[in-house]
Amino acid sequence: MNGRSWTVGDLDQIAAIEKECFSDPWTRRMLAESFLSERFYTTLLEESGTVVGYGGMDITLDEAEIELIAVSEMYRRCGRGGMILSDLIGMAKAHGVKKIYLEVRVSNAPAQLLYLKNGFTGLYCRSRYYPDGEDAVVMVKVLS
Ligand SMILES: CC(C)(COP(=O)(O)OP(=O)(O)OC[C@H]1O[C@@H](n2cnc3c(N)ncnc32)[C@H](O)[C@@H]1OP(=O)(O)O)[C@@H](O)C(=O)NCCC(=O)NCCS
Repeated sequence: MNGRSWTVGDLDQIAAIEKECFSDPWTRRMLAESFLSERFYTTLLEESGTVVGYGGMDITLDEAEIELIAVSEMYRRCGRGGMILSDLIGMAKAHGVKKIYLEVRVSNAPAQLLYLKNGFTGLYCRSRYYPDGEDAVVMVKVLS
């Protein structure tokens, strides 16, 4: 298992996991456009040449926003999500970020528990944030 940044060659596999995980997935085109932003930082776990999980984060000045984090279903509950999140937090720290934000569906208990375990706290709810009308919980981690 190794963590590294995304390359163009990873995009089909990342897009496939996005489709598997989310009702409003990032498309291959959206993923490809992230390469155009110098503020978008990525990490990815692969095993035997297969992408099993990934994360993506926007850093603007001293604030970061985690935009993507997912682990392919059959690889979950073995610490990979925690590794991806730690990688993103490490990158944020290295760039002098003071606060990391993210949004998560109110129904997404596994992800909320992952974030709570890694020092995020709930800030407030964004009503009807998602295209299907579900609310989001905004969470933050303050870096020292
Ligand atoms: C959220 C997600 C990335 C977690 O990945 P993972 O590899 O299973 O996570 P880990 O094995 O590192 O779990 C770390 C902690 O998260 C919590 N957690 C993760 N999945 C959980 C579940 N199904 N039920 C309860 N807690 C869970 C636990 O606290 C766990 O620690 P523990 O194993 O010591 O109990 C994964 O479930 C996923 O890809 N979900 C679909 C995509 C998604 O919802 N992304 C988040 C969008 S905001």
